[in-house]
Amino acid sequence: MMKITRRQWLAGGSKLMLASMLPRPLWAAQTADSTLHLQAQESTVNWLQKPTTLWSYNQTTLHLKQGVPQKIRVTNNLPQATTVHWHGVRVANAMDGVSGLTQSPIQPGEYFEYEVMSPDAGTFWFHSHHNTVEQLARGLYGALIVSGEKEPVFEQDWLLLMDDWLLNEDGQIDTTFNNLHTQAHAGRMGNILSVNAQLGAWKQQTQPGDRVRLRLVNTATNRILQLRPEFPGALLLAKDGQPLMTPEPVGDLIVMGPGERWDLGWLANQTGQLLEVSGQTPLLVAEVNVSSNAAMALPLYPGTMALPANPMPLPSSEIDQKIDLILEGGAMGRLQTAHYQGKTLSFRELVNHGQVWTIAGQAGMSTEPLFRTRPGQTIELQLDNRTAFAHTIHWHGHHAWADNRWQDSLTLTRGQRKTVRLLTGNTGKWLIHCHMIDHQATGMVTWFEVV
Ligand code: C2O
Ligand code: CU
Repeated sequence: MMKITRRQWLAGGSKLMLASMLPRPLWAAQTADSTLHLQAQESTVNWLQKPTTLWSYNQTTLHLKQGVPQKIRVTNNLPQATTVHWHGVRVANAMDGVSGLTQSPIQPGEYFEYEVMSPDAGTFWFHSHHNTVEQLARGLYGALIVSGEKEPVFEQDWLLLMDDWLLNEDGQIDTTFNNLHTQAHAGRMGNILSVNAQLGAWKQQTQPGDRVRLRLVNTATNRILQLRPEFPGALLLAKDGQPLMTPEPVGDLIVMGPGERWDLGWLANQTGQLLEVSGQTPLLVAEVNVSSNAAMALPLYPGTMALPANPMPLPSSEIDQKIDLILEGGAMGRLQTAHYQGKTLSFRELVNHGQVWTIAGQAGMSTEPLFRTRPGQTIELQLDNRTAFAHTIHWHGHHAWADNRWQDSLTLTRGQRKTVRLLTGNTGKWLIHCHMIDHQATGMVTWFEVV
């Protein structure tokens, strides 16, 4: 059994890369790990005076061990077909859950057996990847926590799944899922914010001096969360499941696009709060009370909370291929023509096909990938947001090196450009799309192939 120490990881040059990218058990494989049973089904919550019907899974949090394969049988008890995607996990391609690309959807009454092995410890999530516009908006998602053998001790380890729901006057999920006008803008926005499927602020109690890990997940379909953390001395430990090389102070604002995750570490000393500040008035999302009247001044030892690195190498300075990822289209954009299903169409014609966004001049899924490459290659993606809206670009099965950290998603504000490096891993067909699901559904999606 081989382990990668932090020093080896830091020193990891391009030769190490290929081997390091391949999933390999870090722990001795367990025999006959029993199958987890996940049911996609209707459920109700009592947020308002009467019950609201959602679509959800029977388990909202799954716990996996790093490097240990886990069979997960997903049974579909919904009135329409579905799939499950393990967001951010470097799974085998056949397990990626992309309807129409890596599998055919699970029909009502049927099941599919996934085998999920995460080479990385960290905070991930899973969600439907079939008719996602509707299924994610109805609540089909859960958290996936992968624990590593050598993680530091936290007295408190809390998960915050933050979501935004659009309810109608009857308190039910609004069913106007595909409104092209909305989709050509920032996408469907909710009128209710939940934390862990509860309305109102999520509250917890802890002891002074406790080490607290907060796993923040934005599960909204389209909304970017702007969070103001008021946890004095808190540190950013990991982004999208991958530990930062050195924990950083959280700063004043955490901007999280849909699908993004941040892990924070905090030594509890006084009441801490998390506020959502994109609206007129700040909204209290979470509050951690410290059971002591006097605020304590405690020294911070960031090292004690730093998470051990996952088996990710450093990106190589040699680039094997450069790919332009120009984002265009949408309202107030200047898109004239784009390719759609092998034809060149005007913007008006695209709209008639329900397409308003493009990646690299292409609207929607094409039969040919954007690029084909081998495992262990460094691909420089030149992201260029030429639209009037923000986008959160997500790459499946891979993390890309951006802003000095590994990330599986990156939010670009209007007009912003970013160059990121993607190190190709498992063979197969991998999506790249905007995680504002309305944008994905109306064209902002492409794929690459590792052969
Ligand atoms: Cu979390 Cu393709 O998605
Ligand atoms: Cu987008």
